Amino acid sequence: MIKVKNLYHSYKKDDIYQVKDVNFEVEEGEIFGFLGPSGAGKTTVQNILTGLLEIHKGQAEVAGYDMKNISKDMFNKIGMSFEQSNVYSKLTALENLKFYAKLFDVETRDPKDLLKLVGLEDKANMRAGEFSKGMKHRLTFVRSMINNPIMWFLDEPTTGLDPSIAADIKNIIREKNKQGVTIFLTSHNMFIADELCHRVAFIVDGEIKLIDSPRNLKLQYGDKMIEVDYIKDGENINDSFSTILNEDKKKLKEIIDNYEIQTMHSKEASLEEIFIKVTGRGLV
Ligand SMILES: Nc1ncnc2c1ncn2[C@@H]1O[C@H](COP(=O)(O)OP(=O)(O)OP(=O)(O)O)[C@@H](O)[C@H]1O
Ligand SMILES: [Mg+2]
Repeated sequence: MIKVKNLYHSYKKDDIYQVKDVNFEVEEGEIFGFLGPSGAGKTTVQNILTGLLEIHKGQAEVAGYDMKNISKDMFNKIGMSFEQSNVYSKLTALENLKFYAKLFDVETRDPKDLLKLVGLEDKANMRAGEFSKGMKHRLTFVRSMINNPIMWFLDEPTTGLDPSIAADIKNIIREKNKQGVTIFLTSHNMFIADELCHRVAFIVDGEIKLIDSPRNLKLQYGDKMIEVDYIKDGENINDSFSTILNEDKKKLKEIIDNYEIQTMHSKEASLEEIFIKVTGRGLV
């Protein structure tokens, strides 16, 4: 669905590149996460892949369209939700969606249904300029679904949203993906990437450092240990055991067979810890 080869971008058109030799592919039906700290180049790559910025070097193909020769038809197939809400302040939420729908040559979704999806049905006739940041963000998000895109670009889809709305947005993303929509998700939030993405790319200073599934990364970088909290002779004991060493496995089995287990956890690394290990940088 996306093929990117040796991609470079320089905002000043000089030889200082904000995106450097980026290579990756996104399969149809995949949720692909682009993870990196602020200023890493995530939005720049998304903007190239959605035709908002030109390619300076390299190649990019999106949904079968060559991004060097953008066809208007491509915009009917893709959806883009922006990091910064860019809705029309003087139009109401409903007018914003109705106006946007007119830009497409394909069947579009009912704006009222979309507003309902993100809990804005009661605000349909309120001017977007009077919306809070989170409300504008929801409107921008839902607007990106109006043309039933097969390829959906989401730049920081849950940033600045309260936990319950963020959970709704995550469910919508999962649901769309189940229906076959391919998703390119940009974030510096490792939790959303871990929860939603089939694969993630780590990007720092415009360069991709690694691409893999969150599961593989956690298996590769996590400690092969299990931490157990159990009660022995009325006393609460906390201990860790290797999941590789036979001796430890035996001890663990003995504890499970004989004592009351309170909690038991595998000590997998979080994506954030892995990111720091791999790139030497934090995610903010
Ligand atoms: N319009 C612009 N003109 C010049 N430089 C820019 C412009 N937009 C971004 N940059 C620079 O390009 C680099 C990458 O920025 P980008 O917005 O792609 O980062 P990001 O990974 O999306 O960060 P964030 O997590 O803060 O959204 C940064 O060094 C930034 O200063
Ligand atoms: Mg960004």
